[in-house]
This record gives sequence, C-alpha cells and structure tokens, in this order.
Amino acid sequence: DYGRRQRLLDAHKVAEEFFQSQLRDRRAVTAQRFLAGRGFDPAAAAKFGVGYAPQGWDALLKHLTAKGFTREELQSTGMFSEGQRGIYDRFRGRLMWPIRDLTGATIGFGARKLFEDDKGPKYLNTPETQLYKKSQVLYGVDLAKRAITKNRELVVVEGYTDVMACHLSGIETAVATCGTAFGTDHIKIVRRLLSDDGTGGSVIFTFDGDAAGQKAALRAFDEDQRFLAQTYVAVEPNGLDPCDLRQERGALAVRELIDSKRPLFEFAIKVSLKKYDLDTVEGRVNALRAAAPIVAAIRDHAMRPAYARELASWLGMDLNEVNRAVHLAAQQPAK
Ligand code: CTP
Ligand code: MN
Ligand code: MN
Ligand code: MN
Ligand code: MN
Repeated sequence: DYGRRQRLLDAHKVAEEFFQSQLRDRRAVTAQRFLAGRGFDPAAAAKFGVGYAPQGWDALLKHLTAKGFTREELQSTGMFSEGQRGIYDRFRGRLMWPIRDLTGATIGFGARKLFEDDKGPKYLNTPETQLYKKSQVLYGVDLAKRAITKNRELVVVEGYTDVMACHLSGIETAVATCGTAFGTDHIKIVRRLLSDDGTGGSVIFTFDGDAAGQKAALRAFDEDQRFLAQTYVAVEPNGLDPCDLRQERGALAVRELIDSKRPLFEFAIKVSLKKYDLDTVEGRVNALRAAAPIVAAIRDHAMRPAYARELASWLGMDLNEVNRAVHLAAQQPAK
C-alpha cells in the first residue's frame, strides 16, 4: 500500500545519503581513488549520487535503526541479508550506485567491489523487492528521459560506469539494464519514452566487442520486429566499453562510437559471415547458409528483399541464389 511504499522509499533515501557521506570519509580513500582512476571527479560522482558502503556488518543497519525504521521494514528493502543471528548489511566495502526510477526516486542499488580478491561477485544488486523489479529497471533513465524524448533516440550500454561516461561525454540519452538482459518490459518502457507512434525513434545498443556482447545482439532478434527495425548496434572494434573509451581516448571518441552505429539487421548478418573465408566458393556457400536464416527472420516485407540484395553483394553472389537460400531457410523450423 501507499504508506508502506513511501516508508521503503524513505529508507532508500536515508541509505543513499549515508553512502554518500561515507564516500567523503578518509577511510573511503580506496573508493575515492577507484572513481578518480575511472575518470570520475567528485562532481561527476555527485551527479550520479555515487556512495560507499563501509566494511563491517552493521553500519547501515545501525544508521537506519537509529532513524526509526523497524526490523521488518529494513528486511523489505533488500539492503540486508539474513544470518542465524539476525540481519546484516548486504553491501559491504563496495562503491554504491543508487538506481532511480523515472521520477528520480531511489529504488535500489548497484554495488561494485573494490578489490579483485574481495568476496562475492564484481557487481551485487538489490534483489527483487516491492520497489525494485530488475526486468523493468533502466539505470540512468531519470537523467536521460528528457533527452530521449527530445532526440527520439536512446542509447543502451552495459554498466553503471558506462552510463556515467556517456553522459559526461555528451551522450545524454544513455541508460543501462542492471545485471540482466534487455527484455520485453524494457522495450515497453523505451517505446513510451520515445513516444513511439511507429514512425521513428532509434535505439542504439553498445556492447563490449566480446562474444557475450555479440550474442546479446543476436538474442535481440527474438524480440519484436517493429522494434528491431529501429534498432542499431555500435561496437568498439578494440572491445573497449564507453567508460574505457572515454578514459583512453576522450569524450569525442565516445560520441564517435555512437555515431558509428549500424542497423541491427546489418550487424547480425555481418557477424554471421565473419568466420567464413569469402575468397573461396566453399566459404561463400557456407556463409550464405549461415546468413540466410537471419534474412529469412526479417518479417518486414520491404526490408527482407532489400537485405537479400545486400547479402548478395557482400558475398559477390547472384541474387537468385541468395533468394533460394532465404526461401529454404524460411521453410526450416527456426533454431
Ligand atoms: N554485471 C553484474 N554482475 C557481474 C558482472 C556484471 O551485474 N558479476 C553487470 C553490471 O551491471 C555491469 C554490467 O553487467 O555494469 C557489465 O559488465 P562488465 O562489462 O563486466 O562490467 P563493467 O561495468 O565494465 O565493469 P567495470 O567496473 O570493471 O568496468
Ligand atoms: Mn563484458
Ligand atoms: Mn564493460
Ligand atoms: Mn567497464
Ligand atoms: Mn509475411
């Protein structure tokens, strides 16, 4: 109910401020250095509300308890774990990113460990709670929403630091999913932000150039096709993510990466051709076999023949041969 939801939001606000004040403490010097080392000065950290969860087991527990939150309320925030002797801080010795909803209210946290050897995963997020549903969360959306609607464009990056790097480089439409794949709930939110009437708006995905990133691009193919037709992919050839890129080559390089976007259909077809030697007949025939199902999966009646022609030219093959392979692929059950 409303009163309860407000209590949970209040607890997040108090926690966020606690983490921010901890980041200013001299005991947080490692966390401060981590941020500086990523190219984020204190103003940048403040813009995104970054904080630090101190070491120990009960720093936040004590703080929120002193502010009058009940044990039961604390348990519902997702900020605590349960042990045999009661609850304890879930986030310890980690950099803290507040995750905010469209209105700017903090509904959860993303937390990064500072040392490779620290226990637990590199990133730890708030679990599912009454406030935090990871399939519906887009990190940075509160800061990006105006620019998204104005530019009718949205950039999806992989991580918290990438969202920060993009915004600081002038890409103010950047958001990230939080430790989960971009899914149908995210598409709905994006549609609404783009005020999509079917005529425009583009969504640009940046993936790490690695295999996981490419897989993510191809997985997007299972999603709805009207959405895909306005979807683009921007991949940094050396595998740098936007945060690395800004640090190594500056803000301009981040903007150039986004400008280098290619349509998802084109990207997916080209990825499928990559492992074949197109200088040989065998290579071209096998490449055609690999790419045909992707062209066949394009349901748009203008787009599919257009990509068949493109594929023919990339392979240096006759359009009739390509069409035959596409029709054949269309009759096979999808794999
Ligand atoms: N992620 C996660 N849990 C992990 C690793 C990653 O939830 N154990 C999510 C985080 O949201 C992370 C994103 O996936 O930001 C991208 O992962 P990766 O590229 O490994 O992280 P970076 O953000 O680049 O991490 P780093 O801080 O090392 O730059
Ligand atoms: Mn990665
Ligand atoms: Mn990364
Ligand atoms: Mn990174
Ligand atoms: Mn049809």
